[in-house]
Amino acid sequence: MEHKVTLCSNNKTFMVQENETILEAAIRAGISINYGCSSGTCGLCQARLISGTVEEIKPREFVISEAEKLQGHMLTCVCAVKDDVVIDVLVANTVADIPLQKINVKVRKVDQLVEQVFRLIVQTPRTSRLRFLAGQYVEIGLDGVGESRFSIASCPCEDRLIELHLRVSSDDPVSMRVADKMRMGDNLVLSGPFGEFIYDENANRPVILFAFDTGFAAIKSLLEHITAQEQELHIHLIWMSCGRDGLYMHNLCRSWTDAFDNFSYTGIALDESIKQLADNPQLGCATVEAHIMQAMQSHTDLSCHDVYVSAPAPATKLFENVCRKKNVLMRRFFTEPVRGNEDMSCMVSVKSAN
Ligand code: FES
Repeated sequence: MEHKVTLCSNNKTFMVQENETILEAAIRAGISINYGCSSGTCGLCQARLISGTVEEIKPREFVISEAEKLQGHMLTCVCAVKDDVVIDVLVANTVADIPLQKINVKVRKVDQLVEQVFRLIVQTPRTSRLRFLAGQYVEIGLDGVGESRFSIASCPCEDRLIELHLRVSSDDPVSMRVADKMRMGDNLVLSGPFGEFIYDENANRPVILFAFDTGFAAIKSLLEHITAQEQELHIHLIWMSCGRDGLYMHNLCRSWTDAFDNFSYTGIALDESIKQLADNPQLGCATVEAHIMQAMQSHTDLSCHDVYVSAPAPATKLFENVCRKKNVLMRRFFTEPVRGNEDMSCMVSVKSAN
């Protein structure tokens, strides 16, 4: 049987299942309440029960005094709910609310999605999870190899599993090492989260998402976060790449059109290769802009929309030009570069054509 939790700070609600802690349910619902160890030790998840009944279903070491108990203090990581409850708890709304962390993680999966793009899935320890907001990025450090930064492709609702998309390039030794040598069970150090490319949860406005190549990672994280919150928003995802291989999760995007109401997807695989575009910047610029125009033709006025873009700067600029023509408010236009993927020579050349 499920019960409802209401957060008195923002009136957000989520459901808690039987034998599930409040913290587990909040993470699953994409709500970033404050926590640390997840195991009753640090006290960071302490909340105050305003109404309803909770029950401790896991042991805790953190001490709550009798006086605090009488005031309703409890730990969300050890408590389940017995009926609908209202609680007062700290919620992370901005990147400043999330501490910088350094966590040893285990590789759970390395798979090659297409010729040069790998998906790396790592798992954090049960007692040291990575807190982040959808759209942020992390740094991987490898001894003797270096560091590289990658956008998180998964939603915070995935809890301990962190997904990254790596375009393997000789300019990025970390991506080469991960693709060549990393296997299930290997250890890695993740630092983060970084970045301010996060979803404005209070906006409640229809959304346009634009990704170029592995810029899809940050956009996927945002999209999965938005859908976890079950907000009934219109969302249009546009994903562009050089060649069909660049749309390395095209089928997943298509499946979302069946899974989610009010969701549409446009995948654009440019016929031109990176080299062809780089050799002819004027062609590159015109080609990219023409495809964006076509993808956006059903939108006449976007003054009520929020736009999130993860693309190389030149492609972002071309997308911005089209958005301006369609009345997007520039304060509602949010951008993020493609992390860990410097091999964007086509887009660099497009820039020089402007
Ligand atoms: S998260 Fe540490 S005690 Fe709950």
